[in-house]
Amino acid sequence: MSAAPSSTVTITVDGRDYQVPAGVNLIDALHDVGIEVPHYCYHPKLTVAGNCRMCLVETGMPLRDRATGQPVLEADGKPKIGWGPKPAVACTTNCTNGLNVRTNTPLVKDCQQGVMEFLLVNHPLDCPICDQAGECKLQEFATDFGRGYSRFIEEKNVKPKRTQLGPRVTLDDERCILCSRCVRFCQEIAKDDVLGFIDRGSHSTLTCYPGKELANNYSLNTVDICPVGALTSTDFRFKMRVWFLKPTPSISTESSVGVNTTVWSREGKIYRITPRDNDAVNDCWMSDSARDLYKPVEDPGRIDFFAVDNCKTSPDQALARAAELLKAGGVGYVGSAHSSLEEQFLLRQIIGLEPGPVAFTAPKRQGDGLLISNDATPNLRGAFLTGLLKDAPAGVADVRAEAISGAIKTLLVIHEDLATLGFTDELLRKVQVIYVGTHANRTSDLAQVVLPGLTVFEKTGSFVNQQWRVQRFFQAVPGPAGTVPDAQLLAQILARLSSAPAVVTSPEALWTSLAARVPQLAGWTWGVLGSLGKVLDASAWAHVPFGEGSSLHYDPAALTAVKAG
Ligand code: SF4
Ligand code: FES
Repeated sequence: MSAAPSSTVTITVDGRDYQVPAGVNLIDALHDVGIEVPHYCYHPKLTVAGNCRMCLVETGMPLRDRATGQPVLEADGKPKIGWGPKPAVACTTNCTNGLNVRTNTPLVKDCQQGVMEFLLVNHPLDCPICDQAGECKLQEFATDFGRGYSRFIEEKNVKPKRTQLGPRVTLDDERCILCSRCVRFCQEIAKDDVLGFIDRGSHSTLTCYPGKELANNYSLNTVDICPVGALTSTDFRFKMRVWFLKPTPSISTESSVGVNTTVWSREGKIYRITPRDNDAVNDCWMSDSARDLYKPVEDPGRIDFFAVDNCKTSPDQALARAAELLKAGGVGYVGSAHSSLEEQFLLRQIIGLEPGPVAFTAPKRQGDGLLISNDATPNLRGAFLTGLLKDAPAGVADVRAEAISGAIKTLLVIHEDLATLGFTDELLRKVQVIYVGTHANRTSDLAQVVLPGLTVFEKTGSFVNQQWRVQRFFQAVPGPAGTVPDAQLLAQILARLSSAPAVVTSPEALWTSLAARVPQLAGWTWGVLGSLGKVLDASAWAHVPFGEGSSLHYDPAALTAVKAG
């Protein structure tokens, strides 16, 4: 065996040697080498409770002769292992050099079957109507590690059902296995200590402290990490069996944090959004408010038509009219930090052909110090990267003043409602507005040309988050009939302005152009972004005062220290 680097140790699992980081939690170490130890209470992002006893394994260390200090060897020359007299809890074991582990002995299997039997004693066994079916660790471990039959013939405990812990979380206490993940999440991550257990033994019950409720903006993470069907989302429960849902990787547009998410849909309809693991951005958490962002997709106010002068028309005529207005000169632009990097790149090229002042609003609000930053947009940095912005976000004041003076005759507006940015109806009637947007508003009402945009759930692209990490999102559901992605609209306008064929707007093709034109992306491809994104060199914008700093407010290093004991 070759000598391990000092930061790693050698452990032996079921007779095989593995190099693992020194001090790492045994469950995590085994997971990383492809061995799953069943567990309930352990969660890699929470402190260790060690209360469910599902993760029992046998552990031992090489024996040494007390007199000589030399290793004691077996007849075959291998180190003799002093196995513990009873099984050990893997989640409270940290890896040290020489640690030996057995995960599949008759003793371990007997322990797993025993723990499963205890956990199921008072469980209602209502799997057919349980919303957790399909992603329930109790079901899965009962199948993989349980006895396969029940010896329990006594009366089960009756506990509260359908308890509203807060506005978004429903508790079925009979299903709770008292793992305390939800309690620890509220204490350690949400910093909202509202959950606890009352009563003892089989009568122990999860509840909110008197006078409190689980109402913080991260409450639905408890549903995600509850390993059984005890905590369910009041909004999602009973809407759809999870195995029918298609998962699509996405990025939250709630703020510049760029929380990684999974959008769950079936037959063109979105049912829920859950967090997607990215330790560099959001660990495995997301806000409750970001889970609702898909709801406007089906809003009756969606713009699902092309229009010129308030009359619905064909895409071709609307795009031709837009190009005609831009070619006439006197153009201004209102871009969007909600547009993807690819869309901003195409807008930049349009501006290159028909130059004019650019406004780019970056609405601010009070972040929460966790996963919502002060910047309420997902891609302000993309505007710097593509050259739309140089030194600071450009407010609409200058563009508005030029519209008032008559210097700007035509405004290409992407997603922003100018009525909320100080444009009066009179001013909106004075300029000719080309509006690209998803929902009807005062700007679309008074625009000369309306082009239907798509939501983040209906198209594919990338955003640059507050860490300058370029992250991909993918189309989860189709847009309204007859619509095309915003990038195609912009490419069509560009083609009409330049009299060249429209550029191909597949992400791969656009990224070839991005890599060629943006120095910070030289050599990058769409594929290189991967599932976790890639951070770019942002030294060129070190002087820009973004000032929205927000990130997970616990210290992962401190958490590791707690776990290492
Ligand atoms: S409700 Fe779920 S997460 Fe909370 S203690 Fe019970 S089983 Fe664990
Ligand atoms: S996972 Fe519960 S005791 Fe280890």
